[in-house]
Amino acid sequence: MATANNVALALLLLVAASVLSLPPASLAVTSPYVRPKPRATLSLLKDDDDDDDADGQTPEQVHISAVGSDKMRVTWITGDDTPATVEYGTTSGQYPFSATGSTDTYSYILYHSGKIHDVVIGPLEPSITYYYRCSNDTSRELSFRTPPASLPFKFVVAGDFGQTGWTESTLRHIGAADYDMLLLPGDLSYADLYQPRWDSYGRLVEPLASARPWMVTQGNHEIEKIPLVEPHSFKAYNARWRMPYDAGASPSGSNLYYSFDVAGGAVHVIMLGSYTDYAAGSGQHRWLRGDLARIDRRRTAFVVALVHAPWYNSNEAHQGEGDAMRAAMEALLYGARVDAVFAGHVHAYERFARVYGGKEDPCGPVHVTIGDGGNREGLAEKYIDPQPATSAFREASFGHGRLEVVNATHALWTWHRNDDDEAVVADQAWITSLASNPACNK
Ligand SMILES: *[C@@H]1O[C@H](CO)[C@@H](O)[C@H](O)[C@H]1NC(C)=O
Ligand SMILES: *[C@@H]1O[C@H](CO)[C@@H](O)[C@H](O)[C@H]1NC(C)=O
Ligand SMILES: [Fe+2]
Repeated sequence: MATANNVALALLLLVAASVLSLPPASLAVTSPYVRPKPRATLSLLKDDDDDDDADGQTPEQVHISAVGSDKMRVTWITGDDTPATVEYGTTSGQYPFSATGSTDTYSYILYHSGKIHDVVIGPLEPSITYYYRCSNDTSRELSFRTPPASLPFKFVVAGDFGQTGWTESTLRHIGAADYDMLLLPGDLSYADLYQPRWDSYGRLVEPLASARPWMVTQGNHEIEKIPLVEPHSFKAYNARWRMPYDAGASPSGSNLYYSFDVAGGAVHVIMLGSYTDYAAGSGQHRWLRGDLARIDRRRTAFVVALVHAPWYNSNEAHQGEGDAMRAAMEALLYGARVDAVFAGHVHAYERFARVYGGKEDPCGPVHVTIGDGGNREGLAEKYIDPQPATSAFREASFGHGRLEVVNATHALWTWHRNDDDEAVVADQAWITSLASNPACNK
């Protein structure tokens, strides 16, 4: 029965593929692999997600983010006033260290958030598991592993999560990976003004986001601005997902863009904001220029940047939406020999060759769209035909990417499709550091 279904499905896919004239890359990948049927969307919202969502004293929605080279910010929410304290140590059940931070709340129309606690802990040793508990709560012990202080370093990159059955599948695949840090190029909860969905999203991602640093930038779904009623953009995002914009060598002054180093400075990560000013003369543009100027490529092997709306995109969805930002900032990234740019927004996967100014260029960054985390809007299945020569691989499937920076010259990028129940790599490419390419450093 299952086999008959699979054969029927395979035939259907072949017919569909020829009718839609899918690019050869998709056919080449799908032909040996019989894809399982789509899975049902699960309901992950709790019914009790009312105004005051978090229940009393118990910490929930815990997530962590790296601050500088040896500190970690712990963020969590409680319903009641509880101490903004994190107790931690390297042995389960023993917490010789503690740190206290601050607590904030926000209101959005009639919604009032729980108490959002924010504590920076450290200094911490690299590559070690720390056990911790929040708000002195004895019922929940959590743990995380600190990132290594040198290469190799393993990133997961995934965007446009939302909170569907597909999201759950993406998270399960990420959870099975051995990685040091997650990079998210925007569109987190798809709360879309309905604030309790931020809370359900916080609970959904907690098992992963409390165990590894999640470094995020924002997408259009984070704007949540309503003229006259809620005039400030990114209200929930800024309150719930505070990033280290005021730490490190080039503080930006805005939670919407920032940068940080990992692996002892071997990798520099730049988080940009697609929905805040980026034109020449703007705060973000000035900050980016200064941040790039500070990089010493003798020390920093790889530089990667994240945006939300892709600068290169051969999908019909969101065509051209990243063009203005690209026009404003591409030359800066090119001049600094940024190695890769990761984007979200388009709900599909696409990897480009090294490009600059719309053309293949050996000294330009590899551009990747990884907006296929699993949101409820579904996949972006229509591609511009024919596939541009600069587009190396494109496919509309949910999944996530991994960037393993192996050493000072080599990083392995892989894309993992959710439909593969086994850990099958659906696309992969070596990215070599532009700092180690003499032709790009004359
Ligand atoms: C919370 O724990 C910290 C560290 O163990 C302690 O100093 C503090 O007094 C506790 N606060 C409360 C309100 O119990
Ligand atoms: C870096 O890693 C690549 C890929 O594994 C390998 O081919 C190369 O020899 C390594 N370089 C050094 C200096 O170890
Ligand atoms: Fe988006």
